[in-house]
Amino acid sequence: MKGNYKVIKQNVKDVLSKINEPILNKDFVSLDFIKNISINEKELNIALGITDIHYKGLDKLRDEIIKAVKDKTPSIEDVELGFSLGVVNHKNKKKAELLPEVKNTIAIASGKGGVGKSTVAVNLAAVLAREGASVGLIDADIYGPSIPLMLGVNKKPQLVQIEGKNRLVPITQYGIKLMSIGFLIEKDSALVWRGPMASSALKQFIADVLWEELDYLLYDMPPGTGDIQLTLSQTLPLTGAIIITTPQDIALADARKGYIMFNKVNVPTLGVIENMSYYLKPDGEKDYIFGKGGGEKMSKADNVKLLGEIPINTKIRESGDEGVPIVIREPESVESKVFDSIVRTVITEVNKKNVSDMQPNVDIIMDN
Ligand SMILES: Nc1ncnc2c1ncn2[C@@H]1O[C@H](COP(=O)(O)OP(=O)(O)OP(=O)(O)O)[C@@H](O)[C@H]1O
Ligand SMILES: [Mg+2]
Repeated sequence: MKGNYKVIKQNVKDVLSKINEPILNKDFVSLDFIKNISINEKELNIALGITDIHYKGLDKLRDEIIKAVKDKTPSIEDVELGFSLGVVNHKNKKKAELLPEVKNTIAIASGKGGVGKSTVAVNLAAVLAREGASVGLIDADIYGPSIPLMLGVNKKPQLVQIEGKNRLVPITQYGIKLMSIGFLIEKDSALVWRGPMASSALKQFIADVLWEELDYLLYDMPPGTGDIQLTLSQTLPLTGAIIITTPQDIALADARKGYIMFNKVNVPTLGVIENMSYYLKPDGEKDYIFGKGGGEKMSKADNVKLLGEIPINTKIRESGDEGVPIVIREPESVESKVFDSIVRTVITEVNKKNVSDMQPNVDIIMDN
């Protein structure tokens, strides 16, 4: 290949600064979505990020970029262009201090216990990993950590010394980097922590983990909206929260308390997920065991996105008990498809939110 490599690279960047990523309508350079440009004797290789790796117009976009690159630098004959998941960094001062290598942090929360937070957290994490994201998951439920069981992990994390500091190495399972407060406390030992104590312990614990680079770090939050939850949502640098509810009115009232709590500490609610929405009978009919449309009601009342409705199914409970998330055990099931769709929406919503925070003319900058 003829020509100066540096000039070629600059030309590629010039081209990509004028072509928009189609979902975010912002150019690839501003989004920091150029993952790699490399040149060998024969070929120019470009790796780009994209918000939706299933985007239908990908082939057309690839052709457009390759043509523009060749027009700008006629000496180039062969161009290889690949796309993988592009994740926009959430700019946040607190996050930069506590978790500098983590792009986005999301709390999975509910006003009430037992609605499926942990189940949703492990399945969302597993789908995110499959989509090509680097994912961490923290079991922040100091009252009853359950994520290690749901992911079939029974070993403890290793401690390493880096630059004189002790760091915890998260355990990787199904491509998810897992850390749980349960790794550090004895099984069945009841924790009687007050809010500030739990908060500082959790903060310290999170900072001591060797996460390395992560696109998303999910927190499985303790249930409720009390003192401890409020302190946590205030202390943790959060990109947003996802609220889990079941369809009953009573559960919904609690879910709304969760939404109000996050609002109070300036953490945006990315959406609500209705779990145990219905039972799918063998004949395909839906049985609304716990009532109908609760998640939708909350979505309308509070103007938050309804991210999905997950059916109730023995397979989901079994998967949790066996330590294999349903999205891995049965990726083609109806339940898994709901998780897939939720993840795609979350990825897009978070990227859009981070892009809108990038604009210099926003008057309210969320700085939680
Ligand atoms: N859609 C579902 N269908 C069937 N079982 C479910 C479903 N969602 C969750 N479960 C089961 O319900 C129980 C409670 O779920 P999970 O532990 O995820 O809730 P949680 O909100 O994290 O609870 P806690 O508040 O105690 O942390 C588990 O046994 C789980 O396997
Ligand atoms: Mg839980």
